[in-house]
Amino acid sequence: MRQRRFLAMPALALLAACSNDSSVKPVNAPGDAERGRMALTQYACHACHTIPGVTGSQVFVGPALDGMASRELIAGKLPNTPENMLRWIMHTQDVSPGNAMPDMGVQEQHARDMAAYLETLK
Ligand code: HEC
Repeated sequence: MRQRRFLAMPALALLAACSNDSSVKPVNAPGDAERGRMALTQYACHACHTIPGVTGSQVFVGPALDGMASRELIAGKLPNTPENMLRWIMHTQDVSPGNAMPDMGVQEQHARDMAAYLETLK
């Protein structure tokens, strides 16, 4: 019985969180750059990348992402299209096995938002 009560609590909290958040978007909504900027922080992308507009120290484990929108290729491999940016962010290791950027477990909507933000970095 104890256990059941414990299980019910998070589910209720989740329901409450959903119904209170009027900004929840349907799956596969177009990317939202402002949310993307926040997601880049939440997923700690700035632990390895210097990203304009995303607060963090200057780090150079990965390439700085300024001017990302103007680059021809993503990681020197993929043509820089929005779909490929999703692939890169979500499945880095499939695209380029063994590269120093780990798969970060980014959800699709978060990846879309990040891609939208990176699009603004001309
Ligand atoms: C552990 C360090 C690390 C983390 C964390 C990391 N990256 Fe990277 N990232 C890299 C490295 C290293 C590369 C270069 C890979 C290559 O060129 O093969 C890279 C490449 C990239 C590129 C391509 C850059 C270019 O110049 O073409 C993008 C875009 C990118 N990362 C986005 C992200 C996003 C978004 C996140 C957070 C979800 C993230 N990275 C988290 C290390 C990291």
